[in-house]
Amino acid sequence: MKLSPQDVTVPLVDLSAQHQAMQTEINTAIARVLASSRFIGGPEVQRFEAEFASYCDCRYAVGVASGTAAIELTLRALDIGPGDEVITTPFTFFATAEAIIQTGASVVFADIDPDTYNLDPAAVQQVVSPRSRAILPVHLYGRPAELGGLRTLAKNHGLALIEDAAQAHGARYHGQRTGSMGVAGCFSFFPSKNLGALGDAGAVVTNDEALAERIRSLRDHGRSSKYLHQEVGFGHRLDALHAAVLSAKLPHLDHNNIRRRQLAARYNDMLAGTDLVLPAADNGTESVYHLYVVRTPQRDAIIEELRSAGIEAGVHYPVPLHLQPALRSMNLASGSFPVTEAAADTVLSLPLYPEMTEAQQDYVVNTLRKLVG
Ligand SMILES: Cc1ncc(COP(=O)(O)O)c(C=O)c1O
Repeated sequence: MKLSPQDVTVPLVDLSAQHQAMQTEINTAIARVLASSRFIGGPEVQRFEAEFASYCDCRYAVGVASGTAAIELTLRALDIGPGDEVITTPFTFFATAEAIIQTGASVVFADIDPDTYNLDPAAVQQVVSPRSRAILPVHLYGRPAELGGLRTLAKNHGLALIEDAAQAHGARYHGQRTGSMGVAGCFSFFPSKNLGALGDAGAVVTNDEALAERIRSLRDHGRSSKYLHQEVGFGHRLDALHAAVLSAKLPHLDHNNIRRRQLAARYNDMLAGTDLVLPAADNGTESVYHLYVVRTPQRDAIIEELRSAGIEAGVHYPVPLHLQPALRSMNLASGSFPVTEAAADTVLSLPLYPEMTEAQQDYVVNTLRKLVG
């Protein structure tokens, strides 16, 4: 049963609170685009691309229509397609695998680390083949994947390392920004992400000028000038309205990420000693807690109890990708990725967003403590 807004004491995410806090800047950005009537491309998109590239410590950012488009265009710009294999995690949002499949390449899954929920480099090593072209780790829940080990593997086998950073805007791996450590980083600005647009939007960041140029052309019908098309591309541009809103929100991102980390640390303190498995310690990484995820075998019962107390919890993700009906032709039976499957059965996302009050968090913790040992 879905909770109606008046029943929710603590939502999983509260976008209206975020938009209220930034209302003036957002309204000014929207008014600017309306006044200019430049809705496609133009200075707003260029400005946001420059700002976001700099934020990610990369030379280039290319704004695109979504995070899914960011991944697919990056793979296509690297000429990855039929006959090629791309290694990724089965414990992610479906779009990670979907983007690979849309290029005609094959998805090859490797299991995750049980503590970080991210690709396990040892498992990746086992599935590298002569057809492998890329490794596509996901920084799940905002926590950077084990990029050191993955980068070494990619280097040793001549593979492209492409980061799916859709959940990790501003996170750091041993000081380096996520998105800046492989050949490209792919971001989603889906509204509920740490940096969200007012609809679908995304970006690719890279230090490779030729790659950026090819993605720029592919996102815009393979164009080299207004009516000259060098290759068959896509209508996957970033709208000026989204770019302007993203520029207005970007200066708040670091502060909001700090707030997420503070709230996560507070959850850790207050839930210590319970039967819940809490997020693993940072260990050289700096998570931006897109989601705060605990584990418990009583997950489904706890979600129902929280709901009746007006608290929205979530599951990211209940069905691993290798067990999705859409991928049944891969013939990967239950049991193929045991670490992923155990996580999918037990993970529980608790409410966390920068504007969440400590009183709301206390209420979640007190309710939860009554339900778990
Ligand atoms: C890990 C991951 N990859 C890819 C995507 C796809 O992004 P989008 O919804 O912007 O296409 C998402 C977000 O929804 C995601 O969480």
